[in-house]
Amino acid sequence: MTHFGVTLSQFIMEEQRRFPEATGNFTLLLNDIAVSCKMIAAAVQKGQLANVLGATDNENCQGETQQILDVIANELFIKNNANRGHVAAMASEEMDDVFNIPENVPRGNYLLIFDPLDGSSNIDINGPIGTIFSILKTDKKNPTEEDFLQEGTKQVCAGYCLYGSATMMVLTIGYGTHGFTLDPAIGEFILTHPNMQIPSSTAEYAINQANRNLWEPPMRKYIDECDLGVEGPRKKKFTMRWVGAMVMDIHRLIQRGGLFAYPMDSSLTEKGGRLRLMYEANPMAFLVEQAGGIASTGYERILDLAPEKLHQRVPVIMGSTDEMKIILDNHKAFAKEAGKEFTHQCKSYA
Ligand code: F6P
Repeated sequence: MTHFGVTLSQFIMEEQRRFPEATGNFTLLLNDIAVSCKMIAAAVQKGQLANVLGATDNENCQGETQQILDVIANELFIKNNANRGHVAAMASEEMDDVFNIPENVPRGNYLLIFDPLDGSSNIDINGPIGTIFSILKTDKKNPTEEDFLQEGTKQVCAGYCLYGSATMMVLTIGYGTHGFTLDPAIGEFILTHPNMQIPSSTAEYAINQANRNLWEPPMRKYIDECDLGVEGPRKKKFTMRWVGAMVMDIHRLIQRGGLFAYPMDSSLTEKGGRLRLMYEANPMAFLVEQAGGIASTGYERILDLAPEKLHQRVPVIMGSTDEMKIILDNHKAFAKEAGKEFTHQCKSYA
């Protein structure tokens, strides 16, 4: 049955009224992003029927084998956005360097940075996967990597598209986090989850438990206390969920509360963490904060980090405020003992 409601385009046009100086370019850019995601959703849904599963022979700049769908999703984003005149440059997980808009093509004021297909290890098992994107502004006509290196607080928009049992786009432009479901009958994203709010209390966490022995003490203390259940200090029974696709694990916590963590561990020290700041941690932190949650490295608010590199990795811990406060207190106490800096401050954790 077709659901009659506000479409994503109608929603963005309404939101544009908040900015009387708006030219309409941002609205058009979001439209192009939505079209790209619909095309990716179509490829994902055909799966092996369209020969899109499996790996390529290439590695991306992070040393990860590119899946066929990683490449298709990246190309769709580039093709749908490069010639439209709204972006000044693009960058993605699948490209070593910044993608410059071809000469003679009009360019706009936006920088688009994205992870075309998050959760690649789920592709071949028909598990949930997604696209994550972040939009920044620039006044440069030929931006370089440096122009992308802006704090997460400077994002004008962040979102993800989840290719799950239904396809959903969740986004924020700084006025709440809103969810849209793709109605396949009419090919439109319809506003189904306005103003999503993360419940502050939860008894569910998502973390790769196999890394337990490698985590820093504050994270291990938190999970150990959860695992003691009703008998332990938390006096409640916790559940663990790990889909292995950040988009899905974060979507679950935005919908019903919870915690998502890929914290620092001793195997990641040199890399700086597991997840990428610019196109994973920052957009998700913006969405989580706008839905009332907290997002941190354990020591610093993610959105306050000053990026150093396009493909920089960081520790990520985000979710329901009650749990995040306990985790941040653990890190604060550990930082004091270990002579480390603790600077996390946000409106829910002063
Ligand atoms: O991009 C990284 C990613 O696929 C995330 O989506 C996911 O949360 C994580 O890696 C899974 O990591 P692991 O393979 O350690 O479970």
